[in-house]
Amino acid sequence: MNRDEALQRMEVLYTEIENHNYQYYVLDNPSISDYEYDKLMKELLTLEEAYPELKKVNSPSERVGGEPLPFFSKVVHEIPMLSLGNSFSEQDLRDFDRRVRQGLEEGEKVEYVCELKIDGLAVSLRYEQGQFIRGATRGDGNVGEDITQNLKTIRSIPLQLKEAVNLEVRGEAYMPKKEFQRINKEREQQGEELFANPRNSAAGSLRQLNPKIAANRKLDIFLYGIGQLEGLDVGSHAEGLQALENLGLKTNKERQVVSSVEEMLVFIEKWTANRATLDYEIDGIVIKVNSYQQQEKLGFTAKSPRWATAYKFPAEESVTILKDIEVSVGRTGAITPTAILEPVLLAGTTVQRASLHNEDLIREKDIRIGDHVIVKKAGDIIPEVVQVLVEKRTGNEEPYSMPSHCPECESELVRLEGEVALRCLNPQCPAQIKEGMIHFVSRQAMNIDGLGEKVIIQLYQNQLIRDVADLYYLQREELLRLERMGEKSVDNLLQAIESSKENSLEKLLFGLGIRLVGAKAAKTLAQEFEELDRLAQASAGEIEAINEIGPKMAQSVVEYFAIPEVQEMLTRLKAAAVNMSYKGPKRIVDVDNSSFFAGKTVVLTGTLEQLTRNEAKEKLEALGAKVTGSVSKSTDVVVAGENAGSKLEKAQQLGIEVIDENEMIKRIG
Ligand code: IVH
Repeated sequence: MNRDEALQRMEVLYTEIENHNYQYYVLDNPSISDYEYDKLMKELLTLEEAYPELKKVNSPSERVGGEPLPFFSKVVHEIPMLSLGNSFSEQDLRDFDRRVRQGLEEGEKVEYVCELKIDGLAVSLRYEQGQFIRGATRGDGNVGEDITQNLKTIRSIPLQLKEAVNLEVRGEAYMPKKEFQRINKEREQQGEELFANPRNSAAGSLRQLNPKIAANRKLDIFLYGIGQLEGLDVGSHAEGLQALENLGLKTNKERQVVSSVEEMLVFIEKWTANRATLDYEIDGIVIKVNSYQQQEKLGFTAKSPRWATAYKFPAEESVTILKDIEVSVGRTGAITPTAILEPVLLAGTTVQRASLHNEDLIREKDIRIGDHVIVKKAGDIIPEVVQVLVEKRTGNEEPYSMPSHCPECESELVRLEGEVALRCLNPQCPAQIKEGMIHFVSRQAMNIDGLGEKVIIQLYQNQLIRDVADLYYLQREELLRLERMGEKSVDNLLQAIESSKENSLEKLLFGLGIRLVGAKAAKTLAQEFEELDRLAQASAGEIEAINEIGPKMAQSVVEYFAIPEVQEMLTRLKAAAVNMSYKGPKRIVDVDNSSFFAGKTVVLTGTLEQLTRNEAKEKLEALGAKVTGSVSKSTDVVVAGENAGSKLEKAQQLGIEVIDENEMIKRIG
């Protein structure tokens, strides 16, 4: 095939592939098999490889994700992306309707569009002459981040519209429930922290610099509003949504035009009852005045339009029976009680277990075995027991006491001073060893792929590993003898173990799981001491002298390195050529004392939109702040994101300064 023929064929493939994308992802009506689709995509990739200069910017091949970006550029929203005022009750909706009617001529007819409130991440898409040219996050509403390369991986976003219009359109990118469950399962196997809800996972995926990550997570989108549209004449929101569909964009079909609060309530009731049947999460219903002319008349407050409101569903609760309490042993020996429940449907999933956190909580709530309890799931995945229904007691309920001995190794359990958790202090406890290994191989630690929980248990049960050093002495033949371990997975695993030897010291240090030493402290210690041996020989005083390291952590580090089994294990790690030196940049210790945050104790609460929790924490700590998890008298500042709850209330009660995310960013400077 010559160059001209290649160009012609590429044009055909572009159109054909994008048409299949539209059929499959927008209309949910596949026109060819996955096999045929993959064949077309492969053909396109081959041609683009042979003639890279012919590849066009919006080629469907970009949907598989290109090279990582160094950073996200900023995008200024010409028309700010506002948020919505909330309603929680029928009364709130009646008040909203009254305010709308008061803002219009007396007796004027008002229509509303009721829509599902998708729980994802607000994004803006810009098309010029019908071509997708830029996609951005909402950010603070005025300035967002350019995430075009990630949005191109969402196949229901057309790269080219059906007409050559200039359009800025807004919508919600989201992760379908099934995909959310798949990813969390994968993360659990990898020992990674789970996403709390599909909203966080969608946001987490789209805010990655590497587009391959977004491409591997099957995100989707619903478009629900027009920012700017040139050349098309639409008079109402309902017509606007229809216009978007005509251009090839995906909207949500479950919408309805209504003319009264009563009709709104019927729509709300329907979806309160049926939200579990959807394959994406919704957290409420959005109600918008239909006529654009009326919208314009009503205008905006500083934060949100007067012509729309978001009715939020109450957190879902169910009543069930607590059949038993099970305890599990964590990596640090902490004993965690879990409620075993009579299976109950809650927010679309059957719940059989709920967290009880610790012994104090069981006592405070007077939770007994056999009790009727209320379980709640407020957007998060792990349900909680919120209350006992004392009035339902029959007298046969049994008070619970925590075991005196470890359920795994039978050592006596102790409650260390100042701690709420009971602990098993036996370093040889199999449960701790297993959890410790899972932690050691996890991404933030030694990052050894292919060592999920099941493989670790298998290795342990076959006595191939007793501690983490044994991982570096595994033999190919003995691994091949294990069930479900083929040549390929064994070789991949050995390769991953081998590569982990090169990790910089902080990963090893974090992986060792020294009590109180998290990823951040591990980095500080590694930067400061540079060699593991130097840290192992340091006194508590020397360690404590480091900015950010407190006396308890220093003591814990000293105690850890004094254990003879630890010393022996480190010798074997060293003999296996595991790197024990710090390889990163040196630490900048000079804290800028002029920063507002220097020396302050800060609590982050609610959902942050522009930074992740971790990013905010790192930035604040770099400025000399201490970021803690709970609000107390010693808290100086509380940063309240969206939906901040009890911590915000407590801060207000205590008269502590509360700022929002924008203010925090401003003060970070
Ligand atoms: S309309 C002027 N419609 O809910 C604001 N928002 O605060 C226009 N959302 O951040 C928003 N589904 O990301 C609208 N059908 C829907 C929605 C929706 C979800 C999100 C949106 C916004 C938040 C409201």
